[in-house]
Amino acid sequence: KQTKKAKTKNITSMLTEDRVFQPPKDFAKTAHIKSMAQYKKMYAESIKSPDKFWGKLAKEELQWIKPWTKTLQWKAPNAKWFVGGQINVSANCLDRFLDTPTANKAALIWEGELAEDGKPGEERVYTYKQLHREVCKFANVLKNIGIKKGDRVVIYLPMIPEAAVAMLGCARIGAVHSVVFGGFSAQSVADRAKDSQAKLLITSDGGYRRGKVVALKKGADEALEIKDTDGSRVAKSIEKMIVVNRTGQDVPMKKGRDVWYHEEMAKASSKCPPAKIGSEDPLFILYTSGSTGKPKGVLHSTAGYLLGAKMTSKYIFDLHETDVFWCTADIGWVTGHSYVVYGPLANGATSVMFEGAPNYPEPDRFWRIVEKYGVTVLYTAPTAIRTFMKWGVEWVKKHDLSSLRLLGSVGEPINPEAWMWYYQNIGGKRCPIVDTWWQTETGAIMISPLPAVTPMKPGSATLPFFGILPEVVDEAGKAVPKNSGGKLVVRKPWPSMLRGIWGDPKRFQDTYWAEVPGSYFTGDGCRTDKQGYFWIMGRIDDVLNVAGHRIGTAEVESALVSHPSVAEAAVVGRNDPVKGQALVAFITVKSSVTASPELRQILRNHVGKEIGPVAKPDDIRFAEALPKTRSGKIMRRLLKQVASGEDISGDITTLEDRNVL
Ligand code: PRX
Repeated sequence: KQTKKAKTKNITSMLTEDRVFQPPKDFAKTAHIKSMAQYKKMYAESIKSPDKFWGKLAKEELQWIKPWTKTLQWKAPNAKWFVGGQINVSANCLDRFLDTPTANKAALIWEGELAEDGKPGEERVYTYKQLHREVCKFANVLKNIGIKKGDRVVIYLPMIPEAAVAMLGCARIGAVHSVVFGGFSAQSVADRAKDSQAKLLITSDGGYRRGKVVALKKGADEALEIKDTDGSRVAKSIEKMIVVNRTGQDVPMKKGRDVWYHEEMAKASSKCPPAKIGSEDPLFILYTSGSTGKPKGVLHSTAGYLLGAKMTSKYIFDLHETDVFWCTADIGWVTGHSYVVYGPLANGATSVMFEGAPNYPEPDRFWRIVEKYGVTVLYTAPTAIRTFMKWGVEWVKKHDLSSLRLLGSVGEPINPEAWMWYYQNIGGKRCPIVDTWWQTETGAIMISPLPAVTPMKPGSATLPFFGILPEVVDEAGKAVPKNSGGKLVVRKPWPSMLRGIWGDPKRFQDTYWAEVPGSYFTGDGCRTDKQGYFWIMGRIDDVLNVAGHRIGTAEVESALVSHPSVAEAAVVGRNDPVKGQALVAFITVKSSVTASPELRQILRNHVGKEIGPVAKPDDIRFAEALPKTRSGKIMRRLLKQVASGEDISGDITTLEDRNVL
């Protein structure tokens, strides 16, 4: 008889790199990509002649207003795809289905966290026809309040259908959306509005979270009042605010500036022809953290992004119109953009959207949703999977998950134990798992198994998607041999790649194209194994991945030193069994201040206010001084070792004062 512990140990020891899981045999019957040979052939073509490969797909899969004249124009770091073409993203997600049977099937199934009677289950379903109507009306609302093609619009909403409507409405008229995660602070909203010079802010009175009504407009109002160093308002470019009534809580409306979503929608016409948008016109800006400074506005353009979102959804999630696809990411992240909204809708699938927390009212909420709507493809993050493991499999067992046919993972490396748990308990050993590696900047999935085709190795994102040429390189930018670690770069342009950093071409060049000249630098460490599988080893820059959220240490440090009691701050990551990484801050206080447990709490809240709760340090350690080199550089390597409770090792000869250790 095996004890539970021995069993777990067995699973772990089974999971060597050579442990391979074959895709289920019957999967290939209906899959879009059916065999390894087909993948290899298509992959070879896509690398040999990307123009031909993507040109064919763009023609077959997208509806164009005006055909393009040149498929790819490439001069590193600037790519232009489908040059001269005109297209509309919202028309490709909605209008194209109106004359087909898909018109009357569910495009979006939404479940709110809390129903009127306090029980979970409030739901709204939009068919393609209905969603089209909403989007057309909202596009007219935008026009009516003066938003034009090219104007930037900040969307600061909870996970409610209006968020998808707002995004698609912007796309319909060519306005550029910039979604700010609802969990970010007023300061973050203000900074992003300023950087993008947005004219409009779309928010809601609030939302529901773990059974509580939370405020959102309050944050939006605050954001618009925050003062800049010159005394003017940071977000002064914002002229109007549209407010969705989600919870019915009392919110002040500023005359001349704020309007209610439902009132404007009631006045708007439902006729709105899709605007002609150039292939390379911007579709959205999404701010993401880097190793230095404030978050940067990653810019995505129209046609290439749409094609990337559509084709990865189709081939990697094997989407068919019969699928009920649930990507659990918030629309505030790129995963929500590509795989809650644009990818599934462009494929005529049904996309599930959930407002609330996975453990409200009980830890089986996700499995309830899978069962209730017959979810066929589920896409979530390793940190969520590890949390479910902690809560216990009994919550899963209460539900019939037999509708599931495919599982996905994203956001961070998935540890083999979590992979196995997901595979056995959620997928019932019958669902392949696609471990998808990509980034805000890449727009769509880059490295992933194809579900009917690729033998899976737990912990590896396996092989590149069509048209993607990743390579692991050394300091000199030369490919390293198999099984040695290095930097992950991408050698060729791809349609959904970022087109720049909003307003900062130099930062674009320096961040992504200078490390290995001519190649896109991902910021990730990686190695390949003897089969050529990619094993992502996590960030090698000063970016942390906390519960699947990307957080720049520099950002948290600058939030900490903006507090009057802090003299210096250094933030590093420590491994965390559930969150992947946890944030540890080392702080020296000003001489007039005494470090105390209360101050620790104050500082955590301060970071919450400056950036958002996701960036609050898990651990704050007060120190007399920080370890520095003689030239004054903080020795983070040592702090990382201290944070993880390791012995200090490696070279410390450059340390200025050994006593600080
Ligand atoms: O470090 C990689 C990690 O998440 C980073 C990108 O974060 P973000 O732009 O927020 O986008 C997250 C969702 C696409 C990457 O640089 N990452 C993402 N997916 C994986 C991953 N690491 C390992 N395996 C993955 N599947």
